[in-house]
Amino acid sequence: MKIGFIGIGNIASSVIKGLCSSKFKNLHINISPRNKEKSTLLSQQFNEVSRMDNNQQVIDHSQVVFCALPPTKTLEVLQNLTFNEEHILVSLVPFVDYEQLVEICAPMRKICRAVPFPTVERNECPILIYKPSKEVLEIMEYIGTPIQIEQEEHLQVLWTLTGLIAPFYDLNQKLSNWAQSFEVEKSLADSYIIGLFSALTCYTRSNSAFDFLELKNEATTPNGMNHQALSIINQRKANEAYLIAAEEIYQRFKKK
Ligand SMILES: NC(=O)c1ccc[n+]([C@@H]2O[C@H](COP(=O)([O-])OP(=O)(O)OC[C@H]3O[C@@H](n4cnc5c(N)ncnc54)[C@H](OP(=O)(O)O)[C@@H]3O)[C@@H](O)[C@H]2O)c1
Repeated sequence: MKIGFIGIGNIASSVIKGLCSSKFKNLHINISPRNKEKSTLLSQQFNEVSRMDNNQQVIDHSQVVFCALPPTKTLEVLQNLTFNEEHILVSLVPFVDYEQLVEICAPMRKICRAVPFPTVERNECPILIYKPSKEVLEIMEYIGTPIQIEQEEHLQVLWTLTGLIAPFYDLNQKLSNWAQSFEVEKSLADSYIIGLFSALTCYTRSNSAFDFLELKNEATTPNGMNHQALSIINQRKANEAYLIAAEEIYQRFKKK
């Protein structure tokens, strides 16, 4: 299959690395020349990857085209490209709706929106996907776990949550810095924190049905450490800040 990428930044690089390290057979990837450094490196790193001269060349040589451009540039760039009816577009761009893509990419009919994140590089990633064709589902299955979303509004709500990745790492960093202030080695503090939280998430994943309230109650021994921490955090309404951030990100999906 010939797969093209327009906008070779962080996420396109991760998807490309994920595809090239997967079991995908007969894969050929055509990439746009920007970003110069990243696209050159990818074409040197993987035999499957060819760096094209421009965006139109990517489209002309590919059946499925991933768009990973900045949201502010997407419509303008796509508007100046020519697609045919057989092309398939996978947009990874958050604030550009399905209907806008349909209008701008005519006569293309198979258009979908997808939300991978950088762990796709290791073929381990839940991938939200809206209106996928069977070809796109097949691609996504090689690099992660596609989760089909029926309503675009729900896609936007769940996509919003991916904006909380950096705050999650920030919390981990702050906790690590706190431990280091007692002269715990950075590497020990970092690996213990990531081990602690990943063990908790792996535990919930292995129990197929779970409920966050139940898990919280189980962890909250009366007068125990978690009980103490939860009371302090709730008194300060600290987690409310996550809800405020989520709401404000979500509003960006609604603004046109
Ligand atoms: N990062 C993630 O985990 C993630 C996950 C899901 C979706 N997304 C979405 O995917 C898109 C890309 O995100 P990113 O994090 O990869 O951003 P990024 O690292 O800033 O990459 C954007 C890329 O687009 C290129 N570009 C800009 N104008 C172009 C043009 N006219 N033609 C071709 N390429 C052009 C830029 O090249 P230059 O460097 O040369 O300007 C840059 O390489 C965004 O819409 C983002 O919201 C990101």
